[in-house]
Amino acid sequence: MTVSRSLQRRAGPTICMLTVGIFLFVAAFARGESPKQASSLAELVAMFDSSGCRECHEKIYEQWEKSHHARPLMGMENWIFMAPYLKRGPLAVKAGEKATKANFPCFKCHLPQVNYATDEVAAEIAEAILKDDKSTIRKLNIGCLVCHNAKAIVHGRAEKDVIYGNKDIPDHQGHVVKKSPLMKDSLMCGQCHGLGPNLEFETPVQCATLYGSYLHAYIPCGGTQTCQGCHMKNADHYMPPDFNRRDELSARLRESLPLEVQTLAYTFQPVEDKLFPMVIVKTKITSKAGHRIPDG
Ligand code: HEC
Ligand code: HEC
Ligand code: HEC
Ligand code: HEC
Ligand code: HEC
Repeated sequence: MTVSRSLQRRAGPTICMLTVGIFLFVAAFARGESPKQASSLAELVAMFDSSGCRECHEKIYEQWEKSHHARPLMGMENWIFMAPYLKRGPLAVKAGEKATKANFPCFKCHLPQVNYATDEVAAEIAEAILKDDKSTIRKLNIGCLVCHNAKAIVHGRAEKDVIYGNKDIPDHQGHVVKKSPLMKDSLMCGQCHGLGPNLEFETPVQCATLYGSYLHAYIPCGGTQTCQGCHMKNADHYMPPDFNRRDELSARLRESLPLEVQTLAYTFQPVEDKLFPMVIVKTKITSKAGHRIPDG
């Protein structure tokens, strides 16, 4: 009697777990989720490798290679900016190997392909960051397949092995090209260039807020241009400004934030023996940007 009851008790949860398991399995396929998850960093890098695109899109590749998108985990002057976050504060880990994807809410925008990787990959990345292994971290980027796949879709999920562009090209080498509804829309960039706080994480983060400024200040004042219109003329993938190139940055800012100065010098003489040199300086800064500057 006692034995059979304890068997029954054990059987109950097992059946329940099986049912939940089958349900999740079916649900994952019903939503068209790709079950493929890279289980090593090398595999993730290979899955999102942009070098195969270079052969035919050489100019775009070279522009991209120089852009901040090609080094999204490096701050100014090649510094791995995640290191202090893994050492102190709510995202810190005792040892790199203990890290999971939960340690990297920043990757929502700085390395969104981590969604296609297991926690072991997050641990490998954390170890490389803590060892200041720049050559490994340099291999992680916002490459062609990040923007031209998952970030080019509005409803549903991007199809595996499809590149999204401005038009359908069924016979494109290697991957079919399908028309994206988003490629020329500011929302494409806004997905990462931020509206505000990201409260969905256990440790909420706020980084870029520029898209909020574009939507709520530039557009209501009559602004008509898109991010791509200003930052990607002729599909230029360099997307300046580059904060590591000081001279180029200063020249751009002189042009985009013109400063007008008017001065009037005179002498003020309130009483006969007192002379005060005076100056009136009128300044006007006009912003030609589609959002607040600086932002970040
Ligand atoms: C063998 C050469 C070749 C390779 C390799 C190649 N492409 Fe292309 N791709 C082309 C050509 C040619 C076109 C233009 C076709 C046209 O305009 O009809 C094109 C078009 C495109 C377009 C669409 C352009 C538009 O008008 O919107 C995108 C996006 C694109 N390629 C991305 C990529 C990416 C990303 C890779 C790497 C994964 C890649 N291509 C690899 C030759 C190639
Ligand atoms: C940060 C996002 C982003 C990245 C990274 C990116 N692209 Fe693009 N790409 C775009 C957008 C947006 C457009 C559409 C621009 C437009 O039509 O104004 C575009 C357009 C293109 C086009 C069409 C060009 C044309 O003449 O109309 C090709 C080809 C292309 N990309 C290839 C690539 C390749 C190859 C890479 C990697 C080396 C790459 N892209 C990386 C966002 C990106
Ligand atoms: C997948 C997320 C993502 C998408 C999509 C994206 N960006 Fe970025 N972008 C970033 C990140 C992250 C950086 C900062 C990288 C760094 O320097 O560490 C960046 C940097 C930049 C910069 C350099 C200036 C700076 O502050 O670092 C410009 C300009 C820029 N992006 C414009 C665009 C435009 C225009 C689009 C749309 C065509 C776009 N981005 C799409 C994530 C993205
Ligand atoms: C009307 C043109 C225009 C539009 C529209 C525009 N930008 Fe800019 N953006 C500029 C100018 C000008 C600068 C100043 C620096 C420069 O010239 O490179 C700038 C600077 C930036 C920077 C550097 C921010 C900083 O703190 O200095 C980023 C990132 C950026 N833009 C992204 C975007 C994104 C994303 C969008 C769309 C949501 C967008 N821009 C729309 C013109 C524009
Ligand atoms: C909502 C998307 C998003 C999230 C989440 C996010 N970032 Fe960013 N971050 C960006 C974008 C886009 C830029 C570049 C544009 C800008 O500066 O306006 C940027 C720029 C930066 C820069 C400046 C890069 C440089 O080249 O100097 C640093 C540092 C940074 N982020 C750190 C972090 C850290 C650390 C976290 C997590 C705690 C984080 N970000 C989370 C989108 C994000």
